[in-house]
Amino acid sequence: MGKGFYISKAVGIVGVILGAGALATIIALSVVYSQEKAKNNADPSPTDGGTTSSPTTSSPTTPAPSNNPWDKYRLPTSLMPESYNVSLQPRLTPVNGTEFYIFTGESTVEFVCVEETDLILIHSHKLNYSQFENGQPAMLVSLDTAVEAPSIKSTQMQTVTQYLVIHLNGKLVKGQRYRLYTIFTGELADDLGGFYRSVFDEDGVTKVVATTQMQPTHARKAFPCFDEPAMKAVFNITLIHDIGTVALSNGEEKESSQISVGDKMMQRTVFEPTLKMSTYLLAFIVSDFASISNISDNVSIRIFARKTAIAAGQGQYALDITGPILNFFEQYYNYKYPLPKSDQVALPDFNAGAMENWGLITYRETALLYDEAFSSNSNRERIATIIAHELAHMWFGNLVTLRWWNDLWLNEGFASYVEYLGADKAEPTWNVKDLIVLSDVHRVFAVDALTSSHPLSSKEEDVQTPAQISELFDAISYSKGAAVLRMLSDFLTEDVFTKGLQTYLAEFAFGTAVYTDLWSHLDEAARLNETELPAPVPDIMNTWVLQMGFPVITINTTAGHVSQQHFLLDPNSNVTAVSPYNYEWIVPIKWMKTGVIQKPEWLETKSATINAMKVTADDWVLANLNVVGYYRVNYDQGNWDRLLRALNTNHMDIPVINRAQLVDDAFNLARAQIIPTVLALSVTKYLYRRQIICPGNRPSTTWTSSI
Ligand SMILES: *[C@@H]1O[C@H](CO)[C@@H](O)[C@H](O)[C@H]1NC(C)=O
Ligand SMILES: *[C@@H]1O[C@H](CO)[C@@H](O)[C@H](O)[C@H]1NC(C)=O
Ligand SMILES: *[C@@H]1O[C@H](CO)[C@@H](O)[C@H](O)[C@H]1NC(C)=O
Ligand SMILES: *[C@@H]1O[C@H](CO)[C@@H](O)[C@H](O)[C@H]1NC(C)=O
Ligand SMILES: *[C@@H]1O[C@H](CO)[C@@H](O)[C@H](O)[C@H]1NC(C)=O
Ligand SMILES: *[C@@H]1O[C@H](CO)[C@@H](O)[C@H](O)[C@H]1NC(C)=O
Ligand SMILES: *[C@@H]1O[C@H](CO)[C@@H](O)[C@H](O)[C@H]1NC(C)=O
Ligand SMILES: *[C@@H]1O[C@H](CO)[C@@H](O)[C@H](O)[C@H]1NC(C)=O
Ligand SMILES: *[C@@H]1O[C@H](CO)[C@@H](O)[C@H](O)[C@H]1NC(C)=O
Ligand SMILES: [Zn+2]
Repeated sequence: MGKGFYISKAVGIVGVILGAGALATIIALSVVYSQEKAKNNADPSPTDGGTTSSPTTSSPTTPAPSNNPWDKYRLPTSLMPESYNVSLQPRLTPVNGTEFYIFTGESTVEFVCVEETDLILIHSHKLNYSQFENGQPAMLVSLDTAVEAPSIKSTQMQTVTQYLVIHLNGKLVKGQRYRLYTIFTGELADDLGGFYRSVFDEDGVTKVVATTQMQPTHARKAFPCFDEPAMKAVFNITLIHDIGTVALSNGEEKESSQISVGDKMMQRTVFEPTLKMSTYLLAFIVSDFASISNISDNVSIRIFARKTAIAAGQGQYALDITGPILNFFEQYYNYKYPLPKSDQVALPDFNAGAMENWGLITYRETALLYDEAFSSNSNRERIATIIAHELAHMWFGNLVTLRWWNDLWLNEGFASYVEYLGADKAEPTWNVKDLIVLSDVHRVFAVDALTSSHPLSSKEEDVQTPAQISELFDAISYSKGAAVLRMLSDFLTEDVFTKGLQTYLAEFAFGTAVYTDLWSHLDEAARLNETELPAPVPDIMNTWVLQMGFPVITINTTAGHVSQQHFLLDPNSNVTAVSPYNYEWIVPIKWMKTGVIQKPEWLETKSATINAMKVTADDWVLANLNVVGYYRVNYDQGNWDRLLRALNTNHMDIPVINRAQLVDDAFNLARAQIIPTVLALSVTKYLYRRQIICPGNRPSTTWTSSI
């Protein structure tokens, strides 16, 4: 196939989406404009964790503050867990004569006392405890025989804040280590959270799988634990399950033996201790799934799914691409994959798209399984990007974890950005990286241009309750996070960006960080590189992270005058939220003049004169090359006219992503009543003369060019 005649799948897809998008927009414009529709258009489907929620910060009312530690949602810092022994037995058949499924368990947590206290608060949600001889649901011992643990005075369940509260008759001693032991029962409900059950039919048989989803705050529903991301510990997991079923957890299987439980023989599988990790990344699965496996660079890779799906070869694609993607991230992060294995499991019932449990990633079936005969190319592309997203978290998120949920956007935005880099390694001919503009940047522009949007970063104290945490899993965190990190990586250069990222990971491995720690490392990398920036990295990024929305940059090419303005889809809406930066941004501008790339510029103020952008005669200016900047662009009418002429004559002078940008920006500027709708419609004229050609679907007749 002649090189010049080949058009990649990704470009074809861009074309189709672009065409369809333009048509859809035309239709949307021709009907009565509905603001409500725009508001409800937020359709974030998070790739992992949490539940979908609207991108507003309005939170359920927080209960009246109280001075009792157990009425606060955040744990006190007096106790720090070091390790847990957790043994769980899920029952895959209902309790006799009922539809009620349960699991039973026992747990030991070893913790160190950091500040003297007579109170133990440990997260626990919907668990029922057995009583010991002391008449209490817990036993406490000291790990130093010289010091005796105080006895338990009383206990209470705090259901709102989800604690098991233990009052002691004396004080725990600072620096001393203790062990707390509990036996409990929980419901194995079909509620997609904590330890839950997933049901499916196979070969006419109804089967039950016990599986988990801990993020963000469901680990406390599986066993009592210090359920905050910064409370990292080592977990020794044991699963007791029916003979013939497969048990999986984060660690590798250490030993498996048969034991008798009551009058029944059961399998007891003990897993290797995990590395030091957060509770929300734990996973346990008991199923009759089948698997396929391979070894890549000494890492054992396995794909688990329903037996029929594995037999049909639907796990093979995921198996094939996991090794290369892991390998890519090892180089990208300059850090070896920290675990001996990577298991990935397709579940019939799963809330999010996928979940990055360390070493045991869980997926919706459609996000992992690919069938050569029935799946589409876009299924395949989704699988590659989601696998890359989850594998990216194995380092960014799991090895180094953000200290609290208010920084979730950095975790998710980062993975949502580098998923395209990872997928590009798996499918180098697909131009997957281009799709971030359609799938993330344009998608989130639609919500972030409303007055109901919110800044990426939230204050730690504003994110307290499980509901407030779940609310953060929205399009802003995922897609805007991805967009601004891509912009940052671009203006620093990928080389400097990865250097800073690598030192960040090396410093905080097995620990926690806050988003400004990453900025510091990137700023230091930029300083070492002598990168020219208008301001330090944190100052530039604050304008994108601490205020909602984004600007429209207006370039008047007659005067060389460039200005910025907060872009609002509804021109009549009033912004009530106050911004620390007055809705001005420090804007990197990559641009070209008449098809020739120019020296990048920065707009640091409301408006400025950039003489290089003053053009004459037939020259045109095109700003925001490849839409690496998180903003829209408008021009004076003369430049629009010249751009349109270029589109209709030498459209290949304009990068494909910018052709998509011109259509999307024009229609949105029209909708915001910044330019006439007629101008937006005329941007689409060039599409009519271009054929959209996909590989395998080439016409035999001559054709001029691709889109
Ligand atoms: C978990 O295993 C580790 C490593 O074997 C051990 O040091 C730790 O004490 C165990 N934790 C508990 C609670 O037994
Ligand atoms: C934790 O589990 C390991 C392995 O099953 C066992 O050897 C150890 O004694 C347990 N520790 C405690 C404190 O129960
Ligand atoms: C449940 O029912 C079976 C058969 O009726 C009986 O053998 C078993 O002991 C019962 N189990 C419990 C926990 O009641
Ligand atoms: C826990 O106890 C409550 C109250 O007795 C009961 O309604 C619930 O079913 C129990 N849950 C489990 C999993 O046993
Ligand atoms: C395992 O990986 C090797 C090397 O990439 C490959 O040649 C082989 O086909 C793979 N085996 C399976 C079962 O996928
Ligand atoms: C692979 O793993 C084994 C066992 O963990 C280890 O002995 C060996 O050195 C490793 N090989 C490489 C190339 O890392
Ligand atoms: C800065 O990084 C670029 C590559 O992004 C490299 O070419 C250049 O040599 C670096 N400069 C310094 C001073 O390290
Ligand atoms: C662009 O600048 C020229 C020269 O200053 C001015 O006459 C014209 O009104 C400006 N156009 C727009 C659209 O602001
Ligand atoms: C915005 O404020 C103006 C002036 O106060 C008012 O007329 C207009 O109705 C407001 N718009 C909305 C959408 O509330
Ligand atoms: Zn994620």
